[in-house]
Amino acid sequence: MTLHARIQNPDFRSKIMSAEDAAALIHNGMTVGMSGFTGSGYPKSVPTALAARIEAAHAAGDPFRVKVWTGASTGPELDGALAKADGIELRLPYNSDPIAREKINSGEMNYFDMHLSQVAPMAWQGFLGPLDVAVVEISGITAEGALIPSSSIGNNKTWLDRADRVILELNRWQSGALNGMHDIYYGTALPPHRVPIPLVRPDDRIGQPHFTVDPAKVVAVVETDAPDRNLPFAKPDAVANAIAGHLLEFFAHEVAQGRLPANLLPLQSGVGNVTNAVLSGLMDAPYHDMTAYTEVIQDGMLDLLDAGKLRMASATAFSLSPDAAERFNNDAARYARKLILRPQEISNHPELVRRLGCIAMNGLIEADIYGNVNSTQVMGSRIQNGIGGSGDFARNAYVSIFMTPSIAKGGNISAIVPQASHVDHIAQDVHVIVTEQGLADLRGLAPKQRTQLIIERCAHPDYRDALHDYYARALSGSFGKHAPSLPGEALSWHQRFIDTGTMR
Ligand code: COA
Repeated sequence: MTLHARIQNPDFRSKIMSAEDAAALIHNGMTVGMSGFTGSGYPKSVPTALAARIEAAHAAGDPFRVKVWTGASTGPELDGALAKADGIELRLPYNSDPIAREKINSGEMNYFDMHLSQVAPMAWQGFLGPLDVAVVEISGITAEGALIPSSSIGNNKTWLDRADRVILELNRWQSGALNGMHDIYYGTALPPHRVPIPLVRPDDRIGQPHFTVDPAKVVAVVETDAPDRNLPFAKPDAVANAIAGHLLEFFAHEVAQGRLPANLLPLQSGVGNVTNAVLSGLMDAPYHDMTAYTEVIQDGMLDLLDAGKLRMASATAFSLSPDAAERFNNDAARYARKLILRPQEISNHPELVRRLGCIAMNGLIEADIYGNVNSTQVMGSRIQNGIGGSGDFARNAYVSIFMTPSIAKGGNISAIVPQASHVDHIAQDVHVIVTEQGLADLRGLAPKQRTQLIIERCAHPDYRDALHDYYARALSGSFGKHAPSLPGEALSWHQRFIDTGTMR
């Protein structure tokens, strides 16, 4: 299919230009809202051209930095290229690019790490400031001038509405069969005009398949033909399989107790290899007619769809390895009937997560013995990625599960610590913690009961004695006896690692 066949509206055809010419429309100090959610649906050529322009400006001694808003993380052609060019003044709401991560951690780049469901509302509320340009990847333009989304929705609806000018990247690599699988809800409003969002099942379609854009704002259409770029998942190892095994046992128990239905509740699965391993584990579990109401569609979900175990999945983006992306593209028409991509303010909406009763499964960096979870900051100060959607789901889920290997860095770090060095999810939002050692169901337990369970079930045996020893001293020495702790001493575990390279 020629590219022009994807642009059915003549007005938009007249705006085709090169990535370099489009990037020249972006100037120093501007705020740019880019599409993209994980390595999917992000613009691939304008950011690269912009990075070259920024490098040239810096070489000439001119300042050139922009503020970059996206859906979540993106690919190396966007975050990597712009960070390398030292072109990002402020980044939000989520990043997993290693170059950008280094810039943030060295203090050279500002980063606003925020709940993903709150980005669009906050942009509308005006707190984030004006949006100068939107750069949005799409997969087609209809005769009426509506935009056919690509492999992620993220905040695109909001960027297209809010931006003064719009640059479109039409990516021919994206399957034409994506047309019709998206559900763009235009009914959100700011208080006091908010009304209930009319979605009561993960399968419900409540919006329209295409984005609406004011054609007068569209200043460029750039042609691309480049693949999405997500990293391949690691094959589940013994640790990931053990975590998945504990979780599947927990599900079986909950079904037997009548606390979960026989097809479970809508699954939310966070980013990372461990969560993907859990999806693989569900392949052999006795559940059918399952659904997912989640943020990203990972490889494991395609397998579950193929096996007829998953009835459908709703998300805001694909997050497929290169092999799985090819598999999807080769059979997109069939998959598209079972998948719905929505704006992230809907995929992650607290009202909907609570109403549907999602089973939230997310990764963590460390958990403390009371059940507080750190998902973002290594040793309390180095950002890894960001909170992403984990807070949207964890606080509102029917059951909120966090999982991790019990040790990191070859055993030099215990993922279970006396006190989290930073807290993203307070103990009240953490119902279950799972490591390869076992599973702690914390629901209904007081802090002192939680402590015993977390140490015994989740901590690595190499660290259990030290944790028990700390807790015994906290029991006698702490100011109060509700959640006994010795704050001054608890964080010494992290200091020990910073000083010596091990917590042991
Ligand atoms: N202390 C120090 N470093 C730690 C650590 C700890 N307790 N636990 C993990 N790490 C390091 C790992 O060693 C690894 O470092 P490396 O990249 O230098 O090898 C890095 O953190 C990532 O760890 P890994 O085990 O590969 O993580 P993962 O892929 O399972 O992801 C999170 C774990 C927490 C980083 C990830 O789940 C995340 O970003 N969560 C927040 C966002 C989120 O939950 N989104 C989903 C919502 S829908």
